[in-house]
Amino acid sequence: MEAYEDFAHVGPGTVAGKFLRQFWQPVAVGDELVIGRPKRIQILNQHYTAYRGEDGVAHVVQDACPHRQTQLFLGWVEGSDIRCFYHGWKFNPQGKCVEQPAEDPAFARKITIEGHPTREYLGLIFAYLGEGEAPPFPEFPEIDPEKDTVLYNRHPVPCSYFQRIENDMDELHLHFVHKVSTDEVGLVEFPEINVTETDYGLLRKGIRKESGHNVTRTAFWMMPNVLMTFTPGRPSRPQWMLHLAWRVPVTDFEMASFIVATEKGGGKGVIPRPETKPDPNFITDEVLAGRMRVQDLDPDYPGLFNVQDNVALAGQGKIVDRSKDRLGQSDKALIVLRKLWERELRCVAEGRAPKAWRRPTESFFQERTRELELAGAIAAE
Ligand code: FES
Ligand SMILES: [Fe+2]
Repeated sequence: MEAYEDFAHVGPGTVAGKFLRQFWQPVAVGDELVIGRPKRIQILNQHYTAYRGEDGVAHVVQDACPHRQTQLFLGWVEGSDIRCFYHGWKFNPQGKCVEQPAEDPAFARKITIEGHPTREYLGLIFAYLGEGEAPPFPEFPEIDPEKDTVLYNRHPVPCSYFQRIENDMDELHLHFVHKVSTDEVGLVEFPEINVTETDYGLLRKGIRKESGHNVTRTAFWMMPNVLMTFTPGRPSRPQWMLHLAWRVPVTDFEMASFIVATEKGGGKGVIPRPETKPDPNFITDEVLAGRMRVQDLDPDYPGLFNVQDNVALAGQGKIVDRSKDRLGQSDKALIVLRKLWERELRCVAEGRAPKAWRRPTESFFQERTRELELAGAIAAE
């Protein structure tokens, strides 16, 4: 396998890891980061220290102290800075060593750690973990945190992030993995898969004939790992729902979906999504171990969609061997996705610049068409 064909390995120095680090990534959920309690986080197969300064602003710096490698999350927050637990070296959010209590002041000037640009947005903490200057921060004009209800959470999935991304391209799985729900609403017609490369990534459609609930479903998939879908209102919940999911590698074998589910005009502000009980990953493990069957789960269990997807994805193995796949016409979107990733990773591997991905500055929400009015009988998760 060429290095540019390996999407799964994302640690420092890997091609996919270098590519993903060229974009802002969510690294933690905001309410998990408490002032005075730094947290060791893992993202892209690498550990980092996340903390809030005393003013509440979130920061992300490297994991290990450069003195003798003690993990920095063990230490103290002082103002905007973090002090190491072992011998008290202190670093500012930009990574500059600002104090070494037992050393000559000239020594501190020579010491730096990685201090990453960090931004809190829609309840999530984002960081730019790549080299050089951070690209502009990608905001979503579709969401107005003042007027909408924005629910955020982090959902881990026990397999490679790329399997989760491929699932975002896979409209057909709805009819099997989520069969209980599609049968219930009458979404029974198999889609014709249509996919187009755009300035932001891929526009994916599952085209259906538009009779009853057999509607065309559209997803805006933004490079490198963001899925945006819209669900129109219905009598029981008249507001539009907008769903964003970042598929972020934790390690090579585990990923986390950072979710922002927005109810237009809901007015409750930015709040954490209530926890799903029992934990979908507990059920996923039970099913994968053969102790439960996903077919036997209560159709009203709120974590049903998560468990259904996770079982299908983790059931492929932690990192699926794509060379064994036998793809058909219904995998069209997936084939385009894989080619696109290979093309981009090849640029990175050969030291060329990948495509300058950019989304339109105006809201996708303004461009609703009849198709989108009808789309999304079932929200993607
Ligand atoms: S290991 Fe951090 S100050 Fe010594
Ligand atoms: Fe799914």
